[in-house]
Amino acid sequence: MSDLKRRTFFKLGLFGVVLSLVKPTKAAELLTNIKGSRFAATPKRTVISTWSHGMEANETAWEVLSSNGRALDAVEKGVMTTESDMSNRSVGAGGRPDRTGHVTLDACIMDEKSRCGSVAYLEGIKHPISVARGIMENTQHVMLVGDGARDFALDYEYEKVKSPIKEVKKDWREWKKENKDLFKKPTINHENHDTIGMLVLDDYGNLSGACTTSGWAYKMPGRVGDSPIIGAGLFVDNEVGAACATGLGEAIIRIAGSHTVVELMRQGKSPQEACKLAVERIISKHDDLTNLQCAFIALDKFGNYGGYSVYKGFDFALKTDERNEVVKADYNLSWE
Ligand code: GLY
Repeated sequence: MSDLKRRTFFKLGLFGVVLSLVKPTKAAELLTNIKGSRFAATPKRTVISTWSHGMEANETAWEVLSSNGRALDAVEKGVMTTESDMSNRSVGAGGRPDRTGHVTLDACIMDEKSRCGSVAYLEGIKHPISVARGIMENTQHVMLVGDGARDFALDYEYEKVKSPIKEVKKDWREWKKENKDLFKKPTINHENHDTIGMLVLDDYGNLSGACTTSGWAYKMPGRVGDSPIIGAGLFVDNEVGAACATGLGEAIIRIAGSHTVVELMRQGKSPQEACKLAVERIISKHDDLTNLQCAFIALDKFGNYGGYSVYKGFDFALKTDERNEVVKADYNLSWE
């Protein structure tokens, strides 16, 4: 019996028995009008992910949901699609390396029970998101980094991959020639997608999220961004909603970005308002906003969603029963 059905059973007695026999979404619908019900509206199956590269990932996640799958499986499988795309330069083994030519990957995952797993500075493993889930499910820890994370991945026989790939290595050599002593700020915009973060609400009314990236191109060795940090790159609270981030990780970490968005929703803000307020907080904490692109997407317990960025150009992929499209997010500043 699912959690929803079990709760229904205890709360509503005989009526609960009837409800427990019907599909979870239908049960939630029936409960909507019952006084004292915890459901203010019918949860609506939704997949939302950062950038237009999320469209393909959303398809995969939707397939999982369509076979009565859980949000947790949907977010993992969804972002694995992007990690497998070797033409993507900001996610997975096709991503850009650090200054020394090492592609180091960051990822995290969180489910409806607030269980979470995270991996940072992981090299040579194809699906960091699955390693993050493995840490969540098989260890007492939340986060493993570097060699420890790699040893765990190898022990559990996660698929290995060679990186950087040839084209990326060529670009890196060029970059080295042009930037001997410099550490340029990245320009994270429409052309240079950064991170896939995905949030899913499933038919059982449960939320999960995943976030995975190769991080800041040509970063300092050892640099870790927001994406594997629970509360910064991703946060899920099944009672309220979920949020994830993309963009300059250092700025997102400073305000515990995704946690901030979820807490704003807890205080009654809509997902859209919560993302906007978090972006405004980032803006208020920085004197210099040059190239400081950050964005949040959020999804609440009932399938309401939102997205907002510092600069124009951020978009997100949305899939529901009615919609399957890239949505241009609202923003605070234009690049000009
Ligand atoms: N948001 C990805 C990173 O800063 O690494």
